[in-house]
Amino acid sequence: MILIIGVDRNFSIGVDGDMLFHLKKDLKRFKEITSGHIMVMGRKTLESLPGSKPLPNRTHVVITRDGNYVNHDAIVVTDVSKLDDKLKEINVDNKKVFLIGGGNLVDQLIDKCEYAYITLVDKAYERFDTAIPNLEKLENWELIEQSDLQTEIQGDDVFEYTYNVYKNKNFSSPNFSQAGPQTFPQKRS
Ligand SMILES: NC(=O)c1ccc[n+]([C@@H]2O[C@H](COP(=O)([O-])OP(=O)(O)OC[C@H]3O[C@@H](n4cnc5c(N)ncnc54)[C@H](OP(=O)(O)O)[C@@H]3O)[C@@H](O)[C@H]2O)c1
Repeated sequence: MILIIGVDRNFSIGVDGDMLFHLKKDLKRFKEITSGHIMVMGRKTLESLPGSKPLPNRTHVVITRDGNYVNHDAIVVTDVSKLDDKLKEINVDNKKVFLIGGGNLVDQLIDKCEYAYITLVDKAYERFDTAIPNLEKLENWELIEQSDLQTEIQGDDVFEYTYNVYKNKNFSSPNFSQAGPQTFPQKRS
C-alpha cells in the first residue's frame, strides 16, 4: 500500500473536515497517480470529497464501523483487520492500492504502507485538528526522492512545496518502480 497525502511542515493534514490547502497542480497529480487504481480511506475522508461521494475512475474502499453504510459504489469495510482480505478479493488485476487518509486511518495503517507520496507544503498551520505521523522523525522511514521546489500563488498567499517520496525501511523491495510512476527526478544528497 502507498500513502498519498498533502501535509504542512508539521505533517498536519486537515481542519474542520477539510484539507489545509488545495493546490491545483497537486490535485491534478493526485488524479493522474491514483486513476485506475484502488484508494482506501476513512469514512470522513470519503465524505470530504466533492459532493461527499467517490471520485471517477477509481475503486474506493471506505472504512466505517457502520455496517449499513452506503455511498454510491464505494466498497465498505467495517473492520480494519479485514482490509487485507477485502483487497485480495477485489484486486484480482493487481492494481496499486493507495491510502489517501485521513489522520485516523493513517495512524492505523501507516505500518502497512511501503511508500509514502507526500506533498510537503512549507508552511506551519496554527489551525488544524488532524495530523499524521511526521515521517521525517520516524526512524523506520527515509526520504528517497524529492522534487524541485514547486510554487503556487493563490491571491496574496504563496505556497512553496515539494513532492517527497518516503520509504518504509521495514519493507525490502528491490526497486522503487513498484511504487508507481517515477516523477521525482531530484534525489536528496
Ligand atoms: N491533506 C490531505 O491530503 C488529506 C487527505 C485526506 C483527509 N484529509 C483530512 O483529514 C480529515 C479527516 O480525517 P479523520 O482522521 O478525521 O477521519 P478519517 O480517517 O478520514 O475517517 C475516520 C472514520 O473512519 C472510520 N474508522 C476509523 N477507524 C476504524 C476502524 N478501526 N474500523 C472501522 N472504521 C474505522 C470511522 O468511521 P465511522 O465514524 O463511520 O464509524 C471514523 O470516524 C479531514 O479534515 C480531511 O479533509 C486531508
